[in-house]
Amino acid sequence: MAQLSARERRSAVPRRASSAGLRRFVEDFAEEHPPLSLDAADLTIKDPDQVRRRYGGVFNYLTRVELEVERNVLELRALMPDATETDRLFYHDVWSPQELQHGILLDAVQQGFGMTPAATDLEVSAKIRLVGVLSHLPGMLGVIRLLYYLTGAATERSAVVAYTRLVDGLRAMGEHAIAETVVAPIRRQEPGHFAFYRLSAEVLVGEEGLSDWQLQLARILRRRSFELVGVNNRRQRADFGDVARALEFDRDLVEVARQVSLVERELLWAQQQGLKVPRYILAALEEAIALSTARSAGLEI
Ligand SMILES: [Fe+2]
Ligand SMILES: [Fe+2]
Repeated sequence: MAQLSARERRSAVPRRASSAGLRRFVEDFAEEHPPLSLDAADLTIKDPDQVRRRYGGVFNYLTRVELEVERNVLELRALMPDATETDRLFYHDVWSPQELQHGILLDAVQQGFGMTPAATDLEVSAKIRLVGVLSHLPGMLGVIRLLYYLTGAATERSAVVAYTRLVDGLRAMGEHAIAETVVAPIRRQEPGHFAFYRLSAEVLVGEEGLSDWQLQLARILRRRSFELVGVNNRRQRADFGDVARALEFDRDLVEVARQVSLVERELLWAQQQGLKVPRYILAALEEAIALSTARSAGLEI
């Protein structure tokens, strides 16, 4: 299929995606969603053993990922030393304080059913530092920013799906206090994070504009480097699989992959007709579930 010209590509992106609109969105979101407070939460759990059995791994995993926001901010500085003012406003004043509170709230819940926090990894990896160095090469900053926004969009969308299912599951168990005062309020903040990454990616590809080679390189790198949220090694991939099974992602895995890939399908793969879900995302989910299943059966992974 013929490549779209830069002008056609810009017009293919929704009109709302402008840098001024993005700025307004961040300011409004900051005003409407202050960080959640632990004092406002009711941590009563009716049946701690049952919650631990069913969702212990989920709370443990989500707590770790939320608290690793601290590392994400450091990574961001290494990756994009020249972040835009809107980026900075979002990361420092909105996103990072909100995610930190999500971690603190989830941690308080898991301690209530006797779980200890998983070790967080706050070290910026050599890989990220290398990418930060590459960002100084001509044209590379645009590619790296796009990959960063796509990763953010996939992560936040995964969070929306996970928290939605967790709220439903807790309600069904009659655990209304933690469902309504912890997980549901967290869940309400995640779509705003997703919207930020989506709009940022759309502004970058549309208003700011990326050339064909930049988009092509982004496709190659995305395919090769995609990783599920919170996964840096095999054990963590199996842990993600535990979460996926507890939240029943395995019942409709293609739909989950469709949600996670929403923005990259639109911006990277729209020309590949019939591509409902990028293969690398579905494969990563399948592998996580297979590892988790093997580990539960007592196999070495
Ligand atoms: Fe969060
Ligand atoms: Fe988030």
